[in-house]
Amino acid sequence: MYRKYYEMTHSPFARDIPPESLYESRAMTETLGRLAYTADRQLFAVVTSESGCGKSTLIRKFAASLSKDDYIMLYLSDSKLTPRWFYKGMLDQLGIESKFYRGDAKRQLQKEIEAIRGIQGKKVVCVLDEAHLLEKETIEEFRFLLNYRFDSMSPLALILVGQSELWDEKLRLKRYTAVRQRIDINCVLPKLDRSETDQYIRSHMKYAGCEQEIFTVSAVDEIFRSSAGIPRVINRICDKALMYGSQQQHRLIDDHAITYVTEHEMLGGEG
Ligand SMILES: Nc1ncnc2c1ncn2[C@@H]1O[C@H](COP(=O)(O)OP(=O)(O)OP(=O)(O)O)[C@@H](O)[C@H]1O
Ligand SMILES: [Mg+2]
Repeated sequence: MYRKYYEMTHSPFARDIPPESLYESRAMTETLGRLAYTADRQLFAVVTSESGCGKSTLIRKFAASLSKDDYIMLYLSDSKLTPRWFYKGMLDQLGIESKFYRGDAKRQLQKEIEAIRGIQGKKVVCVLDEAHLLEKETIEEFRFLLNYRFDSMSPLALILVGQSELWDEKLRLKRYTAVRQRIDINCVLPKLDRSETDQYIRSHMKYAGCEQEIFTVSAVDEIFRSSAGIPRVINRICDKALMYGSQQQHRLIDDHAITYVTEHEMLGGEG
């Protein structure tokens, strides 16, 4: 590993960076604010972006920001979720064994949410990650879940998080009009621009406890060019470049090193 060579205390591009050390772009700050509002007002929000732009990471930070005294967050990310599994997944997280039939499980969940609101005085925030993989029927089901007291209020905050096709291949379609009309907040997480890519890399290096500058300006240019500003790809390139740099005993990593690793060490489909 390169940590010793570059005198780092942590791996800079690991996936388990604690929420408080994550890089926060302007779009991320804004989205976190809108999600806090969604939770407080018990709204229906949708968050989309291309793969690897930081949606699940954002939700991790959002979860850490919610006060445990005021909120209960339910998080599901199973792919191809059917309505029955959706209800079961939610009830499981509340520590309740779900009934077999969908209608029964739905009533069970609704009753439980009502008890959490009424007895515990907490608000429920339900986050469905990988929502672009949800079955059509499940998406249609949200309409019933959000309809409470004759549609006069919502019993929970619902946040759908997914890749851009959640809009393009699902929510935009006519069959989801009733669900789409209930969406209160729509957030799109963009890719990072050149200056954010620079700040992103610096923030990771700082987290790693690395005092010295390792990536040159031309290296950051090249990282931005080949990653298109997608955090997951930036991580992969930087990690491989640090490995390569330490093997070559290069204290500085320049654009040639970046070109070398992107051409020789990256698998296809990462851009
Ligand atoms: N704000 C951030 N600070 C630090 N690292 C980040 C940040 N955003 C993303 N990352 C890094 O990029 C990687 C990809 O991010 P993430 O998994 O959140 O993307 P995603 O949008 O959920 O992708 P997918 O659509 O494929 O699920 C993460 O593992 C994390 O290491
Ligand atoms: Mg994700």
